[in-house]
Amino acid sequence: MSVLDLGIDLGTANIIISTGRGGAILNEPTVIAFDKNAEKVAAFGEEAYKMIGRAPEHIAVIKPLKDGVISNNDMAQELIRLCILKVIGKRLINPRIVMCVPSGITAVERKAVVESALSAGARTVYLIEEPVAALLGAGEDIMRPFGRMVVDIGGGTSDIAVTSLGGIVAANSVKKAGNSFNASIQRYIEEKYRVAIGERTAEDAKITTANIFWPSEEPTKTVSGRSLINGLPTKVTISEHDICEALTEDVDAIIAAIRTVFEKTPPELVGDIYDHGILLTGGGALLRGLDMYITREFGVKCHVADDPLGCVARGTHLAFKVRDKLRNGFEKVRI
Ligand SMILES: Nc1ncnc2c1ncn2[C@@H]1O[C@H](COP(=O)(O)OP(=O)(O)OP(=O)(O)O)[C@@H](O)[C@H]1O
Ligand SMILES: [Mg+2]
Repeated sequence: MSVLDLGIDLGTANIIISTGRGGAILNEPTVIAFDKNAEKVAAFGEEAYKMIGRAPEHIAVIKPLKDGVISNNDMAQELIRLCILKVIGKRLINPRIVMCVPSGITAVERKAVVESALSAGARTVYLIEEPVAALLGAGEDIMRPFGRMVVDIGGGTSDIAVTSLGGIVAANSVKKAGNSFNASIQRYIEEKYRVAIGERTAEDAKITTANIFWPSEEPTKTVSGRSLINGLPTKVTISEHDICEALTEDVDAIIAAIRTVFEKTPPELVGDIYDHGILLTGGGALLRGLDMYITREFGVKCHVADDPLGCVARGTHLAFKVRDKLRNGFEKVRI
């Protein structure tokens, strides 16, 4: 792959761009802020993320991908274009681009995503499915006749797949991932403590205080919000057990989705997975204790990839090297 070519992981939570030199050269939250008075983009990425819940009336802070689908096509296109332009800068290059897009998007949305990459100067665009990119990025050899299972827990979806001989053999996807974890934590704190907390506070509690496998009941994390009883600012101290309870339904849905993939997988490949283990990628893989929880549920060793947040981005760019051997989950897009 040329150093000028780009791999793009268009995730619900983060957009990451990597180049032929390796490494991510852009890593921004998938957020864009639109100034309705001036009718132009006010900020994107990290700068726009900081505005969530804090922007004045005339600035709309938009997450154009929601639950693993595109909820605002125009803004998604604009964000992709701006990110590519930020990377390319003023250089007169027309990169080839491999993009990983959420599994739930429609054919029309796929076309829109590809068009925005072309409008930012891409010469050719390829699309890759997330589990294939995740396995490649984690350094797994997926070309052999050997079953590999990956569970990628992102912001919008958890995608599970089994591959062998460079192709997907069985797969499933559920809309239970980082964003729904945050929403479940917000709901739980509201119901149990009668305190409304913001999305970013919930996310912080998830990252610092989750323990899915062995939660302590000791209250250790103080969160601030608005009392639902008197409407005033208040604080409450929660425990790992609270977060674990809040996430029970989401985690169980992911477990059920993994189970259906096992049921669809030919026995020979199930045996390979038993020997080799399950790979956990995506930001949700960092949920403390989730790997051990999955290991216990299935009796199969589950391990978290190195740099789980960066796997897919790395895999999108690595896909160039092996594109002739990928049977499915990878395609050149013609418009
Ligand atoms: N330490 C952590 N513990 C738990 N969750 C985490 C941690 N770090 C990040 N996350 C979560 O990971 C999610 C983002 O992961 P990732 O970047 O893989 O998603 P994405 O690729 O943008 O989404 P998708 O693949 O669903 O489109 C966010 O919801 C974030 O809250
Ligand atoms: Mg992802």
